[in-house]
Amino acid sequence: MENRKNILTGDRPTGKLHLGHYFGSLKNRVELQDKYNTYIIIADVQALTDNFENPEKVRQNIREVALDYLASGIDPEKSTIFIQSLIPEIAELTVFYSNLVTVARLQRNPTVKSEIEYKKELFGNDGESVTYGFLGYPVSQAADITAFDGAIVPVGDDQLPMIEQTREIVRKFNSIYGETLVEPEAVLSSTTRLKGLDGNAKMSKSLGNAIYLADSHEEINQKVMKAVTDPNRIKKDDPGNPDICMVYYYHKLVNQENIETICEECKAGKRGCVACKKELVESMMNFLKPIQERRRYYEERPELVEEILIKGTNKAREKAKEVIKRVRKNMKIDYFKES
Ligand code: TRP
Repeated sequence: MENRKNILTGDRPTGKLHLGHYFGSLKNRVELQDKYNTYIIIADVQALTDNFENPEKVRQNIREVALDYLASGIDPEKSTIFIQSLIPEIAELTVFYSNLVTVARLQRNPTVKSEIEYKKELFGNDGESVTYGFLGYPVSQAADITAFDGAIVPVGDDQLPMIEQTREIVRKFNSIYGETLVEPEAVLSSTTRLKGLDGNAKMSKSLGNAIYLADSHEEINQKVMKAVTDPNRIKKDDPGNPDICMVYYYHKLVNQENIETICEECKAGKRGCVACKKELVESMMNFLKPIQERRRYYEERPELVEEILIKGTNKAREKAKEVIKRVRKNMKIDYFKES
């Protein structure tokens, strides 16, 4: 299937994956893996850019992320799941690309910029804690993508500036050294950014509003009960406005078959918020059931997960070697036949 395009996408192993990841990109990847050669990177080097003092956290989360991938339906027979730090060619490309991007351009990258603002607030300083590695992570992400001839990158919308930066690096590289690298394209899913149950525009671990794919009934119950509903609805039989209710927003995602009834009952004041939340908990558990069953299957077979990661990494490395050969040749640093 050599003429199929390649997908390259992935995540930082800094925690378990949540519904935001699922609707933002995992679901999309599961659908796309049938049509493309899919490579999925567990980006431990990138995770270390702001967790270099917590290597244990990154190490443990490699397994969690791998489990969440397999649980979500990423099929190791169709997709190549691999670990970033075990592909030295990515580090090599990062060094070569670092000449093709200015510090000013990195500082203007909207994702990097907002992360730096966040760090400034967190540490209460002017950003002097921002490391060279952190500022440069878009360059290493360009290497992640191009090392596998990634043409399609299914990601959430927060990653668009990264793909744009990759495209610029590719164009620059190709214009200097000749056609070598594939210019990637981002593919967004229909729910590009999942809102939080708290009404926040984004579900994220750092905002503390995440519903994890591995959450128990108890955990989901606690989170859903705190969800933001229509603030003008005081009494149970007040008519509600589902459009400003986070419970309704989630029903739309996991309880499609009952959505019209829910909407009408809410508007007519015939559905109490507590009952509505309880129904959401059950629908969410139902939705997560196949995911959690698959997760359990792999949790009980750690040696199988390890084998999948080793196999995937070996296969990915073969591909990266092929690309680096082309890169070295065109950069005229292929000094000896054997190297
Ligand atoms: N930056 C991505 C994130 O924070 C993870 C990532 C690393 C990635 N390398 C990638 C995504 C390459 C797509 C392609 O989630």
